[in-house]
Amino acid sequence: MSKYAKIEAAPVEERYARGWHCLGKASDFGRTPVGLKYFGTSLVAFRGEDDQLIILDGYCPHMGADLAQGYVEGNSLRCSMHAWRWGSDGVCDDIPYAKKIPAKACIKSWPTLERNGLAFVYHDPEDNAPREDQLPPVIKEHGTGEWSDWEVVLIPIHTNCRELVDNMADKAHFGPVHASAALKFRNVFHKHVCVQEMEGKSPRLAGDSILKTRATYYGPAYMITEMSGEMNGIPVESKLLVSHVPTSLESFDLRFGVMVKLFPGMSKADSAAMVKGYVELTQQAFFEDVQFWHTKVRVDNPVLCDGDGPIHRLRQWYNQFYVNAADVPKVWDEEKIYETEAFNPIPPQKLSAAPVTKLQEKAVAEA
Ligand code: FES
Ligand SMILES: [Fe+2]
Repeated sequence: MSKYAKIEAAPVEERYARGWHCLGKASDFGRTPVGLKYFGTSLVAFRGEDDQLIILDGYCPHMGADLAQGYVEGNSLRCSMHAWRWGSDGVCDDIPYAKKIPAKACIKSWPTLERNGLAFVYHDPEDNAPREDQLPPVIKEHGTGEWSDWEVVLIPIHTNCRELVDNMADKAHFGPVHASAALKFRNVFHKHVCVQEMEGKSPRLAGDSILKTRATYYGPAYMITEMSGEMNGIPVESKLLVSHVPTSLESFDLRFGVMVKLFPGMSKADSAAMVKGYVELTQQAFFEDVQFWHTKVRVDNPVLCDGDGPIHRLRQWYNQFYVNAADVPKVWDEEKIYETEAFNPIPPQKLSAAPVTKLQEKAVAEA
């Protein structure tokens, strides 16, 4: 037997996760149909006359036209090729030249949700209805006027989405990748929720004070981070959105969003400038991860040490979204807590490394 570690990576199963996936800001969708290439298929999204977000299969089963080229009538979508019309429930409700609508003239209407100023679509290979107790929770601060709205950027990533979710338990990358030294690090797994709590040093996002973050995945693909740090000596409270939607088994659209608590007593213009500055800082930190995803390989059997976070546990938790609902292990009904004690210093090279903007440019160039 070889003394060398051998990386193993089984072929990725042809299946996408069950759960709510965020499609960015709800205001991005209107009467004009938008084509979306997600979950290895095509979808079309639009709003009907009642303003509800409707998402249907993207190709017309009559002769295959792209329904994103169609047009909205009432709450239905008329295909522009032979004018069959598809209702919000996916059932064909009009064929101008037929006496009878075929029973098979039905496409999938995907469950949608608008919440926190964001749009969501629900994917389930078993086609069950979404569970009420697993909806993305309401962010009460959104839309109050005390917080900025979301600034969202979309970044196409060329790897399987497990790489992104691994981050939740990957304590040891914060120093070398983000120049942020974790002092406390904890993961909590419970049902469809996974939490990462961290306290650490991040000169960039918190100056000399302690940066505290609490990142929570609600289901497989929607994460909200609550963060309290500092910029130019001023305390900053922010919420980050990290969400992904798989386009294929080896690619996903990542949406990174930031909303910031507005600064009391500051003029609107100064407050907007602070928000913009903080959004840029957090985006820079995020782009540092992106460059790794574009070049690393998948490892099913990582060689881990005692200072690493609970990578295997995290993957078991994440796997619940890739099995049938009836097969989700009961172990997740109970809360599981993992503390990772070890301190990860910031390597000196990282502190004097090339400006972050260079890393960001590289990541964008490769995206
Ligand atoms: S392809 Fe859509 S109506 Fe014929
Ligand atoms: Fe990271």
